[in-house]
Amino acid sequence: MKKLIVANFKMNEPNLKNWSGFKPPKGAEVVICPSFLQLNFFNKIKNGFKLGAQDLFWENLRSGGAYTGEISANMLKNSGVEYVIVGHSERRKWLGESDEIINKKLKTALAGGLKAILCVGEPKEVRKHGLKTAKNFVRGQLKKDLLGIKKSELKNITIAYEPIWAIGTGTPDKPNEAEEMANFIKTLISVKVLYGGSVNSKNSEKFLSHKDIDGALVGGASLDPKEFKKIASIGSH
Ligand code: PGA
Repeated sequence: MKKLIVANFKMNEPNLKNWSGFKPPKGAEVVICPSFLQLNFFNKIKNGFKLGAQDLFWENLRSGGAYTGEISANMLKNSGVEYVIVGHSERRKWLGESDEIINKKLKTALAGGLKAILCVGEPKEVRKHGLKTAKNFVRGQLKKDLLGIKKSELKNITIAYEPIWAIGTGTPDKPNEAEEMANFIKTLISVKVLYGGSVNSKNSEKFLSHKDIDGALVGGASLDPKEFKKIASIGSH
């Protein structure tokens, strides 16, 4: 099955020279989420991949509005964006994004015609009590983040399961436990589930070969186009 491979550049500015001829491997389904400042560049070179943003604001006034520093769904659409990451744990941590804010952003993304990638995942203190406790934590996040979202809207939402302790640490989850979590999420709602947290070209096959893991959200390893292409290639067959 074809997997969705999403690059999350976070607050990094990869050298655009290295990306100028970028084309994903044949058959791969790829989304690139650069910083807002590099969206325009990736929109121009877009060839066989989709464009994503890392965040949006919860108001979507077509005429714009007085929200200093914010970017609306409409502005993203006008920049060629189709996907938006919502509720990444780094924003929950550093920007204090609550489930309530995430829920508003999710609704705004969908109303604005964007596909949302909703990130959920437990901290280490939770996981140390076992996978069952982690599942309960994730269930709680999903309940709050998806409050008021209609079943018919779920087709435009992809869940990224990203255990916080696995992000940027070089210590990914065990593939079979990530699969178990993905399967659990699918017993709650009918969505695609990605795994994220220290995915690279060496370990991605172990995750992507599982049937309930529909793709990967890749941070650090997505900054190098050669490395990212390898992961996309593994996800394409
Ligand atoms: P990582 O980040 O691949 O660098 O662990 C993943 C993410 O936070 O989306």
